[in-house]
This record gives sequence, structure tokens and C-alpha cells, in this order.
Amino acid sequence: MDVKFITSAGGPSGFPIADRPEVAFAGRSNAGKSSLINTLTNRKKLARTSGTPGRTRLINFFAVGEEVYFVDLPGYGFARVPVSVRKSWMHLVETYLEIRPTLAAVVVIIDIRREPSKGDIDLLHRLKMRGIPAIPALTKSDKLSRGKAAEKRTAVTRSLLELLPLPPVVFSSKTREGRDELWGQINKLTSTDR
Ligand code: GTP
Ligand code: MG
Repeated sequence: MDVKFITSAGGPSGFPIADRPEVAFAGRSNAGKSSLINTLTNRKKLARTSGTPGRTRLINFFAVGEEVYFVDLPGYGFARVPVSVRKSWMHLVETYLEIRPTLAAVVVIIDIRREPSKGDIDLLHRLKMRGIPAIPALTKSDKLSRGKAAEKRTAVTRSLLELLPLPPVVFSSKTREGRDELWGQINKLTSTDR
């Protein structure tokens, strides 16, 4: 599978032409979005990862094969970023979700050790209203025992019942748990075979 960085955009004028289905990856800052994209695409440094939350400030587009774009969205809810900057990121993400005609699904990434945040819940509401399928993923599963991870999956499924189309995928960028399951859901929604 050929994977290429296409562009970083700070606004709609920088978005590439919408000529293929795309899957966006969203979540709280530091949740593990960039790592998850790298794990899915088998690239170590495609999407930048860091210990410094709030690193992804622009919308990054990647071509996965010829058929699909992957889109790394800026993280929300990072407390140490000034409110004005956070507002402008939120605005950028909201604009993207509103206007992108080829958006096939959004993978909503939540650190399995944390509770879904207000940002996660707002995003799930927005997707439901827009009729865009959400694929929930609980990542960093390697930080919990198998039993605890399964419990957390059940708890999140129950607490977000009317917002989640399916139970979350339990995922880890470290062990690659959940990678095939997540690809399965992405392929179904973008109807490409890989
Ligand atoms: P921003 O772009 O800054 O919002 O962060 P992000 O959501 O893209 O997170 P990123 O992938 O940069 O990961 C944040 C930190 O969590 C890094 O130190 C990663 O190494 C670590 N991390 C991400 N995924 C996993 C995982 O599955 N397991 C473990 N143990 N650590 C992870
Ligand atoms: Mg990132």
C-alpha cells in the first residue's frame, strides 16, 4: 500500500480537491491520533507524534493508495493552549466537518484510560446530526489489562449508547491490537478492498 503525505491546510482553501472518499481521525489532544494513523498505514513517521500535546495544528491530508484520503485533525481540549488558539482549531475542524463532501467516516479516538470528554461527546453529536458515520476507537489498550480493557469497552458502549453506531474498537499502537478490526470498518465505509 502506497501512502503519501499530500498537504497541510489551515483552512478550506488549502484542502485538496475532494475526488475520493476520506476518513478523518479526531480526538482529544494527545489521545494517540497520529500514532494510530501510523500503525494503520505501517509507517513510523508518517503522521508526526510527540509527547508535546497540541502538536498537530493544521489539517494533514494523506493519500492511502489511489482510492482514499486519511485526514489527521488537530486535537481538541488541550488546556495549556490559549482559549483563542483552541477556538480557532475548533473552528477549523467544524468547518472541515461541515463542508467536506467526500467525508465517509470519522474515527473518534479516546484514550482508554480516560472518560469520554465533552469534546468527544460534542463531536459525536455533530457527526450524528450530519449523518457522518463515527468509528469509535479506545486506544492505548496496552496500558490496561485485557480484562480492564474489555470492561472499559462495555462501559463506554453503555454510556454513549445513542451516539455510537457500533461498540468501540479496542486499539493499541504499541501492540497493534485492533488494527485489523479498524481496517475492516474503514474498508466497509469507504468501500475499497485492501
Ligand atoms: P496531538 O497531535 O498532539 O493532539 O496528539 P495525538 O493525538 O496525535 O497523539 P500522538 O499519536 O502524538 O501520541 C501522544 C503520546 O501517546 C505519544 O507519546 C505516543 O507515543 C503515545 N501513544 C500513542 N498511542 C499509544 C499506544 O497505543 N500505546 C502507548 N503505550 N502509547 C501511545
Ligand atoms: Mg497528532
